[in-house]
Amino acid sequence: MSLRTFILGLSASFGVAWLAIVVVPFIKMRNLAPIQLSEATDGSTGIFFPKRTGRIADGAQVYAENGCYLCHTQLVRPTYAGNDLYRPDWGGVKADPDRGDTRRETNAYDFFGEKFAQIGVSRVGPDLSNLGRRVETDYAAGGDPSQWLFAHLYNPRQDPQRWKSTCPPHKFLFDKHKVTGSSSSGALPFGKHGDSELVPSSEAKALVSYLLSLKKDQAVPAVLNFAPAKAKIAP
Ligand code: HEC
Repeated sequence: MSLRTFILGLSASFGVAWLAIVVVPFIKMRNLAPIQLSEATDGSTGIFFPKRTGRIADGAQVYAENGCYLCHTQLVRPTYAGNDLYRPDWGGVKADPDRGDTRRETNAYDFFGEKFAQIGVSRVGPDLSNLGRRVETDYAAGGDPSQWLFAHLYNPRQDPQRWKSTCPPHKFLFDKHKVTGSSSSGALPFGKHGDSELVPSSEAKALVSYLLSLKKDQAVPAVLNFAPAKAKIAP
């Protein structure tokens, strides 16, 4: 093989991958045109804008700084690329009391308003696209969802069902102090032991607010609804 063929072959094999994985998605997604809702198919008018509330910008920063994206994705793949829609509550809730089956694939619009789309690097832990929904309707049902998340962040193995969790504890996001006098406002109920108490730092609060905002299950306009994949999941 001549050097020329070698160099050409090398650039072609890396070049094609770079075009397909970096350039084409960048061009397709950098300027998303707003999607107009239509009364006939979507039952409402205006434009599609996923609703999320919480400290999204600050929380996403803490999420990035602590490398959560190394083990957690935020991308429910289309069915042809994986079985994410079938995993318990990843793509939405299978039997939401009000809305029924809310499971759907992630689309580029779900990251509106975020500086960086935290799609993640690997799937060591569960996908977090709909974590906020899951915590509210399931893990902390009837309780305070942020308390559940604080407890998980402090020590994931605290929950008897997760005794072998490999999610790293993030104790440095909490301040432990001795109670002298009355306890601090915002002290965590699970962190009271004798005369010491745990108070979440502002980073922990921002992160929990962000995690609770993760609800990528809002109904999508008909043009974004890839019905064939949906039809298959119906029981
Ligand atoms: C080393 C890989 C790793 C890193 C880094 C990591 N996690 Fe996890 N995480 C896991 C694994 C594995 C699980 C599943 C076991 C469990 O439920 O604890 C998990 C579970 C979770 C859950 C429960 C999800 C569910 O639906 O059951 C939450 C919430 C979570 N992680 C948040 C975070 C946050 C926030 C960060 C960053 C501050 C983070 N994780 C960093 C591996 C990781």
